[in-house]
Amino acid sequence: MKVLVIGSGGREHALAWKLSQSELCTKIYVAPGNAGTEEEPKTENVDLKAEDLQGLLSFAKKQEIDLTIVGPEAPLVLGLIDLFEDNNLLCLGPNKLAAQMEGSKIFMKDVLKRANIPTADYKVFSDPLIAKKFIENCDIPIVLKADGLAGGKGVIVAFSREEALEALNSLMVAKKLGSAGNNLVIEEFLNGEEASFIVLCDGENIVPLASSQDHKQRDEGDKGPNTGGMGAFSPTPLITEEFNKKVLYEIIQPTLNELKRRNIVYKGFLYAGLMIDGEDIKVLEYNCRFGDPETQPILMRMKSDFLDLCFKAASKKLQNQSIEWDDRFALGVVMASEGYPENYKIGFPISGICEESSSVKVFHCGTKKELNEIRSNGGRVLCVTGLGDDLNDAYEITYKATSKINWEGSFYRKDIGKRKQ
Ligand code: AMP
Ligand code: GLY
Repeated sequence: MKVLVIGSGGREHALAWKLSQSELCTKIYVAPGNAGTEEEPKTENVDLKAEDLQGLLSFAKKQEIDLTIVGPEAPLVLGLIDLFEDNNLLCLGPNKLAAQMEGSKIFMKDVLKRANIPTADYKVFSDPLIAKKFIENCDIPIVLKADGLAGGKGVIVAFSREEALEALNSLMVAKKLGSAGNNLVIEEFLNGEEASFIVLCDGENIVPLASSQDHKQRDEGDKGPNTGGMGAFSPTPLITEEFNKKVLYEIIQPTLNELKRRNIVYKGFLYAGLMIDGEDIKVLEYNCRFGDPETQPILMRMKSDFLDLCFKAASKKLQNQSIEWDDRFALGVVMASEGYPENYKIGFPISGICEESSSVKVFHCGTKKELNEIRSNGGRVLCVTGLGDDLNDAYEITYKATSKINWEGSFYRKDIGKRKQ
């Protein structure tokens, strides 16, 4: 089978790495990929951007691609799946309507509300003056969310009224994130521990993946600005067997039912960001894709044939499908460029990337090969991922490999997987 993977991050490297292990796989193209994807067996990078829908379509037709798997949200929200399906190409990902689960916070919150799924209380604003009045009288902390896609920068948890007003100004008046901030969701602050619950859907059936948890804040102790994710591990003890069932039947299934009621069929990965407070589980967000960096530790633990699974999901054949997992724990540490998530420099040569072993894999997030040298090429640069018998063991193995890697201005959190449970 010839596969096209769309995207260029650590998630896409992990997808290509795992797909290449399948005997069903003859060739993988990654558009545009990175220095890591290029090194995987059967894999070749294609110089096409993830948002270049027409370019990707022409490529897929010309190469007679059997299955296209979309990594990031942007092409999904733009309607890549609709375009490919209109051209009779098999692909895995939600169509434009279904991708609104991530593309519009207002849409997502409305689905949750109509389906009676627990989530933070919220209000929607399209007028900054009315939003300002609301903030002047609301409880603090409060959470402001730009309605549209904002690459992880659209959510501000404000711990003071001044901070909330500043965020409002930056999103709705200064339009720091462009049209993503035309409308705003302002919601109550929730306490608890976050977990990521990701499922694979074929439009009818759901197969849950292993549970995971990521660390979104830049600094140790879960402090500092939100990022795309500074590290993740799987499984998380937060999702017990009982919680697993509860999330599946009381959150995921009713969400898909509500979408169906709106004539929206969901196919692809669906990511629920959960806030867990004792017995209480609330949905913080939905993403219309696999998580990054969650994909890296999750796929390190997957024993089943991933290509077979993706093919079945794309062809509505997930019924009675289950996934076999390695019992060990996997932990991924993101190495980033100084200044991330704001401004950072790229182009520094990277040293110390270890040889691949059965327990450690260095996934590339933002890298480029130049004159036979691997250089940094993004905010998140690498995700070092290790497997261990327990979380501590995975921590030791992963950080040992991480500590050997270096480039000018590199940094990483030292406490991934060390959150108090
Ligand atoms: P989101 O993209 O909606 O998941 O928001 C990004 C991050 O902001 C989440 O992972 C949480 O850490 C935080 N966050 C979002 N909504 C809330 C909330 N209602 N209460 C507390 N923290 C939140
Ligand atoms: N790790 C968070 C995300 O993928 O959105």
